[in-house]
Amino acid sequence: MNPADLQLSLAPFQGITTPLFREVFTRHFKGVDKLYTAFFTGGHIRQKNADHPDLAHTHQNGVPVAPQILSKDAEEILLFGRQCRDKGFEEINWNMGCPYPRVANKGRGSGLLPHPDKVEQILESVFPALPVKLSIKCRLGYFSPDEILSLLPVLNRFPLSEIIVHARIGKQLYEGPVNLSAFASALPLSKLPVAYNGDIFSKEDLTKLQQQFPTVNHWMIGRGLLYDPFLAARLKNIPIPENSQFVLYYYVTELYRAYREKTEDRIAALHIMKEFWSYFSNSFANPDQVFNQIKTCVTFSDYEGKISEIFEKSF
Ligand SMILES: Cc1cc2nc3c(=O)[nH]c(=O)nc-3n(C[C@H](O)[C@H](O)[C@H](O)COP(=O)(O)O)c2cc1C
Repeated sequence: MNPADLQLSLAPFQGITTPLFREVFTRHFKGVDKLYTAFFTGGHIRQKNADHPDLAHTHQNGVPVAPQILSKDAEEILLFGRQCRDKGFEEINWNMGCPYPRVANKGRGSGLLPHPDKVEQILESVFPALPVKLSIKCRLGYFSPDEILSLLPVLNRFPLSEIIVHARIGKQLYEGPVNLSAFASALPLSKLPVAYNGDIFSKEDLTKLQQQFPTVNHWMIGRGLLYDPFLAARLKNIPIPENSQFVLYYYVTELYRAYREKTEDRIAALHIMKEFWSYFSNSFANPDQVFNQIKTCVTFSDYEGKISEIFEKSF
């Protein structure tokens, strides 16, 4: 495949891939074709979403954003779709992948996957009134990777724009290996475009997946991009700047400054940065050591000192 045809998206991470993060990320790094908001729930939707900062931009640095909803209520999905249409979005994404028991036990997120009948009822009410495109992000199942085999014939009946499959089951949470053979069994059953998500960390990972699944051309990447923000450029053969360590330094510094401004210098900014570093420390040769340095900071000046130390060693 021509690298230019490759579609890459940044997976949503609640609390990490905030609008502010996406803004700073796409300013510094090339190669990502699409962004997703973390999920909105019914509570958010019924309150004034119009002012929600996560719906403030249909594009960030030219990259389109798809807002995501976690719901099992057709009315809520329609309401969200209308709110998003009014703000200029073209697509919303329905989260059927969230694995957490408090979500799944209430039949939301991946808890919907064992119930194709419920999914069908919801989609019948949502289409054709929905004024925007609808894509789905799901897993192979909640209890078993076979669940998707019963779900796909139902999804095929609706004009969904895409099904993004995270190749795990809900019960796995984020643990254990991705199940490529189950993904391979499901893929031919879909008449809709299917995107792949799960454990893409390097060019070798993507190349293997492309060889195994040549019909897939959209690859959603989460941790891989949080660990190595140049990954999308690497995958597309876009040249990496020679001063890449400086770019990383500016990226981290801008993120920190922006969170301090947003939180009006509250210590919450430090907590957010620690969460960010729990992923980003993996871009260093000694991730545990780097993360420990950050984790133990209690003040902004501690943090700033550690950042200088960490980057001085890497320049
Ligand atoms: C802390 C955390 C928050 C997440 N938040 C969301 C979310 O809001 N919506 C969603 O669809 N997936 C969410 N995910 C799942 C990721 O988008 C992605 O599917 C998962 O990390 C697997 O992709 P990866 O192996 O490329 O990281 C979250 C994952 C983690 C670890």
